[in-house]
Amino acid sequence: MNNKIPNHVGIIVDGNGRWATNRGLSRSKGHEAGFINLQKLTAYMYEKGVHYVSAYLFSTENFKRSETEVNFIMNLLTGKLKEILEFCHQTKIHAFFSGRKDKLSKKVLEAMNTIEEETRKYTDRQFNICFNYGGRAEIIDATKKILYDVENKTLEINNIDEELYNKYLYNNLPSLDLLIRTSGEKRISNFMLWQCSYAEFYFIDTLFPDFKAKDFDKALEEYQNRDRRFGGIDYDKKNH
Ligand code: FPP
Repeated sequence: MNNKIPNHVGIIVDGNGRWATNRGLSRSKGHEAGFINLQKLTAYMYEKGVHYVSAYLFSTENFKRSETEVNFIMNLLTGKLKEILEFCHQTKIHAFFSGRKDKLSKKVLEAMNTIEEETRKYTDRQFNICFNYGGRAEIIDATKKILYDVENKTLEINNIDEELYNKYLYNNLPSLDLLIRTSGEKRISNFMLWQCSYAEFYFIDTLFPDFKAKDFDKALEEYQNRDRRFGGIDYDKKNH
């Protein structure tokens, strides 16, 4: 056990729909509860000393859901813009987005832009919102930008390494240290494929609206009990 705090925590928000259905409520009520919980949870993570939080809120595949549900999630961004900004200012968070901009309405894009611009001044706490996001799409989009620069002779092939590649992703983020998925599913579902190479995975049955500070403490405790070797050997523990 060590007392290391993960620099970058990823959370695959899952189970909002089931949380609502279990209570006889509409799925939208689940997203509303998820939205409230996300604010409390991220504020707690930053208090604990985490610097980067990445949350998977809408995947490229989520457009396959009903129009009502998609619209509800989109409207959370635009309709609750004032609340989101207040939360970011109070908690001193720079919030920004990862994902493709196509398929998003002008109103949603404007809200995203306002959030990014108005919170840019906060540098210690970074909140990466994955919205219309796919991990493979991110890698393809970065590759296209790289090829474009190679073609235009502003980049040499031999200069491409991991550090440079990272800069071509949606945001130049550090690797994920801890990745949490709620609701019992044990998959990555196309979330931050590049950034989770050495992340510690934590899967928990709790549905997202019920995942509270004490549950994060448990995840943190398990993280601190894990032996992170990054492909090497922990010489302190090797006994021969
Ligand atoms: C996954 O649960 C959750 C989502 C796809 C939406 C997450 C959205 C929020 C937390 C609020 C959005 C906030 C902003 C700022 C836009 P699910 O619906 O897949 O749950 P299920 O597996 O039980 O159906």
